[in-house]
Amino acid sequence: MSNHINARRQRAQSALNTNHIVLIGAGSHIPVPGGMDRIYPFKPHPDHYWLTGHRTPGAVLAFDPQDGWRDFTPDLTEDDHVWEGLTEREGEPISGLKTWLKERGGRPIAVLGVGGGPLDGIESDEAASASFTELLLDARRAKDEVEVELMKRACAATAAGFDRARAFTVPGVTEREIQIELEAECYRQGGQAMGYDAIVGTGTNAAVLHFAPSSREVKEGDFVLIDAGCEIDGYTADVTRTFVVGTPTQQQTELHGIVREALEYGNSQCKPGKEWRELHLECAAIMAKGLVSLGILRGDPQGLVEQDVHALFFPHGLGHLVGLGVRDGSGYLPGRQRSDRFGLAFLRMDLPLEPGYITTVEPGLYFIEPLLKDPARRERYADSINWEEVDRWLHIGGVRLEDNLLVTESEPVNLTGEIDLSP
Ligand code: GLY
Ligand code: MN
Ligand code: MN
Repeated sequence: MSNHINARRQRAQSALNTNHIVLIGAGSHIPVPGGMDRIYPFKPHPDHYWLTGHRTPGAVLAFDPQDGWRDFTPDLTEDDHVWEGLTEREGEPISGLKTWLKERGGRPIAVLGVGGGPLDGIESDEAASASFTELLLDARRAKDEVEVELMKRACAATAAGFDRARAFTVPGVTEREIQIELEAECYRQGGQAMGYDAIVGTGTNAAVLHFAPSSREVKEGDFVLIDAGCEIDGYTADVTRTFVVGTPTQQQTELHGIVREALEYGNSQCKPGKEWRELHLECAAIMAKGLVSLGILRGDPQGLVEQDVHALFFPHGLGHLVGLGVRDGSGYLPGRQRSDRFGLAFLRMDLPLEPGYITTVEPGLYFIEPLLKDPARRERYADSINWEEVDRWLHIGGVRLEDNLLVTESEPVNLTGEIDLSP
């Protein structure tokens, strides 16, 4: 077994600090509904993959604190040979799991990862399973050297994709064509998959947070918002840039500049101990100040953020951890609850940053019609929002900028800082 997998298992063992038997399921193939004779691409549960380094449907990693780790994987069948060309499989035959468990009869069991399948019928301690899941997630948050290297490669391939997409974008090309160029270049540079469905929104589509690229043709003067990241060995980048086709107008330059100021401040603060919720609010205040300077908001930026006024223009969180999947390791520390405040309810994480964490920083300002044309909101925020001014911006869409930052003991490392940020 490689050294990094060994080190991760030791990390997991110290984090769990238990006498329970622990079973971690990789998950199984999921058939496409309707008898299509097809399956979805298999993605092992990240806890299993992190501790084994292989992607095997139906596998179970077992741990007995008194006896160490056992990597059980399905026995190779003739079908595996005939249809998939498989000649060997890592681990030991899962047919041995029953006996292994029998030998430990009466000991409490925690089930992590994906239950069911080979773990069907196993009685587990639900409370321990839930708490160990949290502990293991926390143990995985700080990325090791192998993970950081994969993230750097995923970010480099993604950067090449963004460069290509920007060079390709001229009036008349469609959002879908931009996506195709970006993804093709990511794959040429070593990307193995896209970490999530790429977002390409042009014109007012830039204001749709998760816009799926359409056949809309880009026009001179449009904002083009691209949010995409490619994946290498399961590790994905998550990057956004927004730029203008042709020469930016003053409105576009100003809006982009405000979001960029929030991005650069946010990036600079990705340091150990920094509370994510606090950074979210600080970046929100920078953007609220910018909106005041544009005459869109009225009042003291801090006070506007306390009333959640900024969230009508920035209706998402500042970011999330990223790695083995686009939200890898995000979440709330145990004991922290999701706020019911409009301006905070959508935070994907509430935790302090630590060395080794890789986080996105992704401020944005958007002119989203369903939020900004709502008569009830127009009445409620009549004092703090200049609605006539808002109407002069609705055509512009929106701007999001997103980098991936590695937290270190000293300065943060921007893994995506080479990608052109200009409007
Ligand atoms: N790609 C979605 C996000 O930025 O979180
Ligand atoms: Mn993104
Ligand atoms: Mn993101």
